[in-house]
Amino acid sequence: MKKAVFAGSFDPFTIGHLDVLRRAAVLFDEVCVGVLVNPEKRPLFSPEERCAMIEAAVRDAGIENASVMVFPGLLVDFARAVGAAYNVRGLRNGMDFEYEYSMEYFNRRLCPGLETVYLAADPAHVQISSSAVRMLMASGAGIDGLVPDQICKIIAERVKRDEQ
Ligand code: PNS
Repeated sequence: MKKAVFAGSFDPFTIGHLDVLRRAAVLFDEVCVGVLVNPEKRPLFSPEERCAMIEAAVRDAGIENASVMVFPGLLVDFARAVGAAYNVRGLRNGMDFEYEYSMEYFNRRLCPGLETVYLAADPAHVQISSSAVRMLMASGAGIDGLVPDQICKIIAERVKRDEQ
């Protein structure tokens, strides 16, 4: 069975992330989405919120061979824990490549058996990032079309709740 991990901060998960996941789910028998818990960062959404949002998007997209879980620490430990031999990464541009290539070097040192597989982003998604989504949210601008519809709804509900 070919199992892959697709890890990230996903704060929040965008339509670019969903596209990479959808394509990975065709290539692999199972894809485990790992939501990084980084104690050094203060994310906008809690790990539990991020997992719930991704699960809703996965369900809505009809992806049946993906699971979502939180992971602390190293990606290679997450891959080992779920028994994955592949690490899926999306690439939007040269900057992503520089970063990912360096990460691959360290991941390979830590776990030579883990193969990193790169999927080029759909050209329609290359400008989309979680940080841009957070910036728009902070200024009260709409984020429709940048995150999956289900996530847009969950975020809108949270914004409404926070305003009350
Ligand atoms: O969505 P992101 O924040 O770009 O995802 C980056 C992620 C989570 C894949 C990367 O930061 C990561 O793997 N972090 C865990 C720590 C780790 O394993 N680092 C590699 C060795 S230095």
